[in-house]
Amino acid sequence: MSESFDGDWLAQREPFDAAARSRTLAAAFADALPEQPVILELGAGAGSLLRWLAPIIGGSQAWLLVDADPVLLERALLTTAEWGEAQGFAVRWRNGLTLLTPDGAWRIGAQVADIADLGAVDIGSADGVVCSALLDLVSARWFALLGEALRSPLLSCLNVDGHDAFRPPHAADAAVRIGFRRDQARDKGFGPSVGHRAEAALRRALVPHGFEVMSAASDWRIPPAAVEMLQSMVRGHAGAASRWMPSARGAIAAWQAARLRQAAAGRLSLRIGHRDILALPNGVS
Ligand SMILES: C[S@@+](CC[C@H](N)C(=O)[O-])C[C@H]1O[C@@H](n2cnc3c(N)ncnc32)[C@H](O)[C@@H]1O
Repeated sequence: MSESFDGDWLAQREPFDAAARSRTLAAAFADALPEQPVILELGAGAGSLLRWLAPIIGGSQAWLLVDADPVLLERALLTTAEWGEAQGFAVRWRNGLTLLTPDGAWRIGAQVADIADLGAVDIGSADGVVCSALLDLVSARWFALLGEALRSPLLSCLNVDGHDAFRPPHAADAAVRIGFRRDQARDKGFGPSVGHRAEAALRRALVPHGFEVMSAASDWRIPPAAVEMLQSMVRGHAGAASRWMPSARGAIAAWQAARLRQAAAGRLSLRIGHRDILALPNGVS
C-alpha cells in the first residue's frame, strides 16, 4: 500500500522546494527534450514540480501527473489552475487542464495509479520523466524496474542525502538522526526504501543501460524566520525517531520541546541535504 502524504504539508514545503532545486540541471533537462515534449511525472502529489519546471522548459508541452492519491491529484490541477490565472494565463478545462501561456499551451492530465511495480504507467513513451521527493521512498528492486523501462531523460529532484543539521547543536541530535534514518529506510509500499542512498541506487540502475548521470546539491535551507516550517520539521523528526528508538523516547521528547522553544524564539535553523539528479540516455546531451 502506498504511503499517504498531507496536501497541506506539500504546500508548506513548496517554497523551500522551489528555492532548493537545481536550475542548472533543470535547464539541461529542458535542453535534452524534443519540441512540444510529453512529460511524465511520477508521484506528482499536488503539482509543485510542474509549477516550478514547466516555465523552465518553456513552449508547448504536455504533462501527465501520476499519483496513487486522487485527492492530491485533484489539488494539483486546481492549484495549478489558480497559479496559472495568477500568472495571467488563460485557463481551459477539457480532458484535463490547459494553460494558455504566451509561448505555448501546457496540457496537463492526471492519472491515479500505484507505481510500485511501474506496470501501470507507460514510461517508455514519455519524452521526459520527472519526479520530486520520491526516489528516497522507493526500493532497489524498483530502481531495477526503472532501469529496464526508461528510454528518455530523467530529472529527479530533492532526493535526501542524509546530510541534515539542526543549528545550534543539541545533545540528543544523534539519537534523533539514528531513529529518523531508520524510519526513512522502512517499506513505503515499494519494498525497503533506499532513503538517503537514492543517488547511488539510481546510478547503479541506469549506468549499465547507457545513461549518463549527473547531480547537484539542492539542500533546503530553513532560516530562523520560517518558524512554522521549522516546527513541522521538529515534530516530523521527533515522531519518526521515537517510533524506532523506544528506549530513547524521553530524550527525544525533551529534544522536541527544546527545539520547539528555540524555533518560537527565532534561534533555530535547519539544513536538509538533498541532491537533484539528471540522467540522460546515450547520445542525448
Ligand atoms: C513526498 S511526496 C512528493 C509529492 C510531490 N512530488 C512534491 O514534491 O510535492 C511523495 C508522493 O508520492 C506519492 N506516492 C507514494 N507512493 C506511491 C505509489 N506507490 N504510487 C503512486 N504514488 C505514490 C504520494 O502520494 C505523494 O504524492
